[in-house]
Amino acid sequence: MNQPNQSNPSSVNPSPIDYDLRVVRQFTVMTVVWGIVGMLVGVIIAAQLAWPELNFDLPWFSYGRLRPLHTNAVIFAFGGCGLFGTSYYVVQRTCQASLFAPKLAAFTFWGWQAIIVAAVITLPLGYTASKEYAELEWPIDIAITVVWVSYAIVFFGTIAKRRTSHIYVANWFYGAFIIAVALLHIINSMEIPVSALKSYSIYAGTVDAMVQWWYGHNAVGFFLTAGFLGMMYYFVPKQTGRPIFSYRLSIVHFWSLIGIYMWAGPHHLHYTALPDWAQSVGMVFSLILFAPSWGGMINGLMTLAGAWEKLRTDPILRFMVVSLTFYGMSTFEGPMMAIKTVNSLSHYTDWTIGHVHVGALGWVAMMTIGSTYSLIPRIFNRSEMHSVGLVNAHFWLATLGTVFYAVSMWIAGVMQGLMWRAVNEDGTLTYSFTQALDATWPYYVGRLLGGVLFLTGMLLMAYNTYKTIRGSELASTDNTAQAA
Ligand code: HEM
Ligand code: HEM
Repeated sequence: MNQPNQSNPSSVNPSPIDYDLRVVRQFTVMTVVWGIVGMLVGVIIAAQLAWPELNFDLPWFSYGRLRPLHTNAVIFAFGGCGLFGTSYYVVQRTCQASLFAPKLAAFTFWGWQAIIVAAVITLPLGYTASKEYAELEWPIDIAITVVWVSYAIVFFGTIAKRRTSHIYVANWFYGAFIIAVALLHIINSMEIPVSALKSYSIYAGTVDAMVQWWYGHNAVGFFLTAGFLGMMYYFVPKQTGRPIFSYRLSIVHFWSLIGIYMWAGPHHLHYTALPDWAQSVGMVFSLILFAPSWGGMINGLMTLAGAWEKLRTDPILRFMVVSLTFYGMSTFEGPMMAIKTVNSLSHYTDWTIGHVHVGALGWVAMMTIGSTYSLIPRIFNRSEMHSVGLVNAHFWLATLGTVFYAVSMWIAGVMQGLMWRAVNEDGTLTYSFTQALDATWPYYVGRLLGGVLFLTGMLLMAYNTYKTIRGSELASTDNTAQAA
């Protein structure tokens, strides 16, 4: 099944290439920094949901303003820096070429950081376009477009100057992620400015909702999935020391995933003013989406076939394998929640939040963390991380944190759904909303505990990263010069 030079990124090595690693290093360090910031805000809002007094009557510190700060920081700052950094590394290594337009690449780093800082300032101040995951106001939207187009030029320019005949599959996923995010961002952010920091969407009513959830769902599909699959297709084989299980399956995986994702958005709008047929199309495509998702998971996991014993000694690989398992869980749960009757129970409840974080913590964060641990020694020319023991401790904190978070929200969500719909014989509601809220409280504390565990792991990562970079021990072979 594996084809020479296609399945294994390590198989071609013409001559040492002067890889551009500076921008990769910068993005990698900021992945850790923004991970801590975003998750700290997550912990704060989780605490505010359990103890509302923690809003302190300060508008800029209130839950409503910090929540979008959390989502923007974890998705676009933490996840985004992880994707920029790894894609710049992977595209160079697998194409056997240094970055196209390195100055433009440096611009994408500083531009992206400036956008994140703008988000950190404007969101707590209450400036928002009021679209979930697209809250940033119009001047920042324009800046995002400029940086993103520059990113596309650097990435595809590097592919164009490649010294290999093929384009390794990880780049297909990264490439689809870059193109789709440009499309989604530009179409969903069409807005009419009315002042320096206020605009209104050009869409209205149901059309606005449809465009928004076409965007929202594909932000999940292309930002939180396709990009991280690109990461997976490079770093899992790399860390395992084996070629990807099946190159053919990865191609089927790619085309089916990108073909199906675009049509599943209406599952966010079940039982709304959206035409019923459109909701059904969303449901059916969501159910079909299960197949390519699991195809990808199996391809990643089976790469370890014959090398499972490595899991005993390599905590970095454990991050990746557990991440793939959580990916499988969330892509099984998602199609189930897309079934209209199931959604009538899950929608508006914390079940959705549980699903989100199985994907976000279990899949996205774990894959990013594993890949970052794999990358740091390579780009800083060290033989390994400063402390493998700390990586192992981080692994357990992250796994336990995700489990605490998910289980708390699953129980809370199903309980809320059942309490809200329970009716007495005379047709009155069995429980008031406050009773359902009271019953949820212990699970909010459980979720907070999960978040604290996950965040603690990130702090260990920051310390370990600092010590690795500062340490004096160099790799025995020069990582910066060796080929992919
Ligand atoms: C320490 C870790 C984290 C904690 C404690 C945390 C906590 C929270 C809380 C309390 C909410 C609001 C829930 C609600 O509205 O009821 C939330 C929402 C959200 N979080 Fe996190 N989070 C964490 C990590 C992450 C990560 C790493 C990601 C993404 C990579 C993420 C993505 C999201 C998203 C997308 C939402 C919005 C969900 C929705 O609207 O349905 N979170 N998070
Ligand atoms: C086959 C794959 C998947 C399907 C079919 C799917 C389906 C769904 C459904 C039905 C909802 C609930 C919509 C609602 O009731 O409002 C949902 C919410 C969500 N899912 Fe998934 N999901 C999938 C995979 C994932 C993955 C891998 C992630 C990664 C992090 C993810 C992130 C989210 C987020 C962030 C939301 C909340 C959106 C919001 O309301 O703000 N999903 N998904």
